[in-house]
Amino acid sequence: MSVVAAKELEDDAKKYASEAIRLDSQGAHGMAIQMYQKAISTLVKLVHLYPDYRLNKQYTERAMAYQERVKAIQAAHGLLPQDHDADTDERASGRGPQLNSGGKGPQVVQQLKASFSELVITEKPDVKWDDVVGLEDCKQAIRESIVFPFLRPDLFKLGWPRGILLYGPPGCGKTMIAAATAAEIDGYFISVDAASIMSKWLGEGEKNVSKLFSNARKMLADNKPVIVFVDEIDSLLGTRGQEVGGEVRVRDQFLRETDGINDKGKNLHLYVIGATNKPWTLDPPFLRRFQKRIFVPLPDNEARMSQFRNYTAPLTLSEDVVLALLAKLSEGYSGSDIKDICQGVQLRVVRELFETGNALDKETMTRPITVSDFKEVMRTRRPSVSPEMVRAYTQWSENFKAL
Ligand SMILES: Nc1ncnc2c1ncn2[C@@H]1O[C@H](COP(=O)(O)OP(=O)(O)OP(=O)(O)O)[C@@H](O)[C@H]1O
Ligand SMILES: [Mg+2]
Repeated sequence: MSVVAAKELEDDAKKYASEAIRLDSQGAHGMAIQMYQKAISTLVKLVHLYPDYRLNKQYTERAMAYQERVKAIQAAHGLLPQDHDADTDERASGRGPQLNSGGKGPQVVQQLKASFSELVITEKPDVKWDDVVGLEDCKQAIRESIVFPFLRPDLFKLGWPRGILLYGPPGCGKTMIAAATAAEIDGYFISVDAASIMSKWLGEGEKNVSKLFSNARKMLADNKPVIVFVDEIDSLLGTRGQEVGGEVRVRDQFLRETDGINDKGKNLHLYVIGATNKPWTLDPPFLRRFQKRIFVPLPDNEARMSQFRNYTAPLTLSEDVVLALLAKLSEGYSGSDIKDICQGVQLRVVRELFETGNALDKETMTRPITVSDFKEVMRTRRPSVSPEMVRAYTQWSENFKAL
């Protein structure tokens, strides 16, 4: 077996799972479910591809645990899966991959039968505009493109743009800002990640795209704006290792659907927001459908300071911890890096307390966190975005941004 490929899948599963847990803890239930499902699909794929792998038992157990969590969230928040369709039965009859190595995990097999529409989330996320730190230009552009035309369509004699692309380095708030937009408007928010559209386990990508848009058009009947959010939209253009031709059909279907919005529905309030951290993989016809292309950059000094302020608020800090210094030291780190740094610092003092052997005594507390704790964590945890990547985004922006 290819250890490298297994490692890649394992890394992906880990990434999805930790993002799911993060979203879950933020109360973004719909998105957390999507991420858990991505983690589950990846784990199942791993087990299926490498039936003899020694870690399979753990993977299966993990997948089952995430499945339980998804069910619990759905039950607690009334997030029932959407309509079932013919594809479901088709896959249930065994065309998709099966967990046949030892027959562990009935819930996991159940997951394989999920229909595409179950992965489309229409619930409003629990993220507010103000939770998104900085990115004022970006918020303003979204407000102008969606809120203004909705309030005064009569002022837009030439129509208004329907496609918005958010691009930029990982972990800087693209997914978050899309979620906040949904919370901001009184309308419908349909969120799906492109990887689910393309997943071989969820029916044909092309059909999934048209299902997505036909659902969106149905919702317009209520006279409210409808936002279709496609995360990691570059996946629609296919990645290596996929069947030749499939991704072209999906892409063409997507182009046809977006043209449909622009031509036929001059007064429709149907918007498509796409997010990507690989904008350069998008081809010109695809880009043309996103009339607004908005860069979501690494946080600047002020934004990093606010993020440190938010994340350290519940922690006990020593007097030498000055937010302005933390912001200065963390140049080049993303928002999600800053969150990880703060968690890392927290772990340092908790670990120390456990090492003393007194941690189980509820009276003993961790020592105050000092600035050298932050320095130490940053020394061992470099920014997840390299200067070369930053340059690549800046360069792409110069050529293709459209505000
Ligand atoms: N501008 C921000 N304001 C507040 N929190 C942020 C911001 N940027 C990042 N974060 C933190 O980092 C996490 C990841 O952000 P998000 O998922 O929105 O990034 P992304 O740009 O979509 O990344 P990716 O390209 O990897 O999908 C958020 O859940 C949040 O905790
Ligand atoms: Mg994202």
